[in-house]
Amino acid sequence: MDTIFDYSVSGKNRFQLPEAGCEDYDPIPEEYCTVATVLPEVSEVEVVRHYTNLSRMNFGVDNGMYPLGSCTMKYNPKINEKIAAMEGFSAIHPLADASAVQGCLRVLYELAAALREITGMTFSLCPAAGSHGELSGAMIIKKYFQDLKEARSVVLIPDSAHGTNPASVAMCGFTVKEIPSNSDGDVDVERLRQLLDGNVAAMMLTSPNTLGLFDRNIREISRLLRENGSLFYGDGANLNATAGRARMADMGFDIMHTNLHKTFSTPHGGGGPGSGPVGVVDRLAKYLPVPLVAKGAQGYYLEYDRPDSIGRVHSFYGNFLVALRAYAYIRSLGAEGIRDMSDTAVLNANYLLACLRDLYKLPIDRKCMHEFVISDGDMPNGVTTNDISKRILDYGFHSPTVYFPLHIEGAIMIEPTETETKKSMDTFVNAMAEIRREAYEEPEKVKTAPRNTPVHRVDAVIAARKPVLVWEG
Ligand SMILES: Cc1ncc(COP(=O)(O)O)c(C=O)c1O
Repeated sequence: MDTIFDYSVSGKNRFQLPEAGCEDYDPIPEEYCTVATVLPEVSEVEVVRHYTNLSRMNFGVDNGMYPLGSCTMKYNPKINEKIAAMEGFSAIHPLADASAVQGCLRVLYELAAALREITGMTFSLCPAAGSHGELSGAMIIKKYFQDLKEARSVVLIPDSAHGTNPASVAMCGFTVKEIPSNSDGDVDVERLRQLLDGNVAAMMLTSPNTLGLFDRNIREISRLLRENGSLFYGDGANLNATAGRARMADMGFDIMHTNLHKTFSTPHGGGGPGSGPVGVVDRLAKYLPVPLVAKGAQGYYLEYDRPDSIGRVHSFYGNFLVALRAYAYIRSLGAEGIRDMSDTAVLNANYLLACLRDLYKLPIDRKCMHEFVISDGDMPNGVTTNDISKRILDYGFHSPTVYFPLHIEGAIMIEPTETETKKSMDTFVNAMAEIRREAYEEPEKVKTAPRNTPVHRVDAVIAARKPVLVWEG
């Protein structure tokens, strides 16, 4: 595709700059101006067309179904964007005095209260992502055992955990020990029993796990951990499976995080800002990262004076506008709507699973929660998960998550989310059925896909090893 520079014609520009808005300014010192700025000289319509065309080369949840397992690409209501753009929220200064931003503090206070209602835990909204919530949780685990003067250094993590779980605890200095899943996809409790000793600080369980399964032994797991003096961490990034139906604290978890940018419908992907609040049961609340938002006689205020806190994990108080969108989402749904969200997420996933079970291999045959995993296990003519994931692009869908979780060979992880209609799911099923037919009858079509996208199949190794990140005209 042409770049904007290809339309540039020297001398074309008759631009007008807006008023500076200030009388005096210091020009940038010359020694810092080391590269000559070359701006394309184009007309307004060329700029509009260029960017509109660029936007059409991308795929987003506003274009079509985006069944990216684990990543919960649900539709984000536009009203949340409108609210987040309101000046009273978007133009506040992070150093403004609490008395001047009472409304914003109230949003944070009430969001933490809503999350407590949903999970049974007390939250700090500071972490900027799910993995950041995990790291904050691991720091809380560390401080807890430091205070007990116990040198526990191991965190147990099932093979069905999200990939960030082991990375986060390792970053905090813990040693990770993996627990295998049993043939039903649950944690192998016998193996857990064998691994538990005085060195185990915690176990971190992605719930539901990355197969989209709720661990049926969760009570037993939490009992064993408690008996061992270990903490139980729950990765609640995908709370759209259980919110409004079951609370993480009641399942026996001591610490958790959730992803506002997934479950609570704020946009994500492309590295955009997220929010991964970390929550704890009451006895651990003193360790939460600061600040928390509190309410006193003078109104809402940021509470920093918490001597046992692990300290700050983010500048100011986290990603406020992400929290605001989540607050708008929760308030507009209400308790009943939140329950309905989870019910529909689980119903949609089970509907898709039922439609696909005879078409693709199902490594673990159980009812699922909000997502499920199929595989390329019985594909003919050497057609692989990678081929299927590319061919689905030609049918106008984003690919599912592939080759994850790692313990399922050729995994294809599908999450329709609660925002998909039956019609769009049926269209997806038809496309998957057609791909299976092609795998038998016209395998080359699948193996050379995608064909209908602006960029055809890329060499993934070169793209990763030698990415071209700069336009060099
Ligand atoms: C179960 C689970 N845990 C943790 C994360 C990590 O969240 P983040 O990408 O915000 O760091 C994700 C993200 O997809 C997830 O699905």
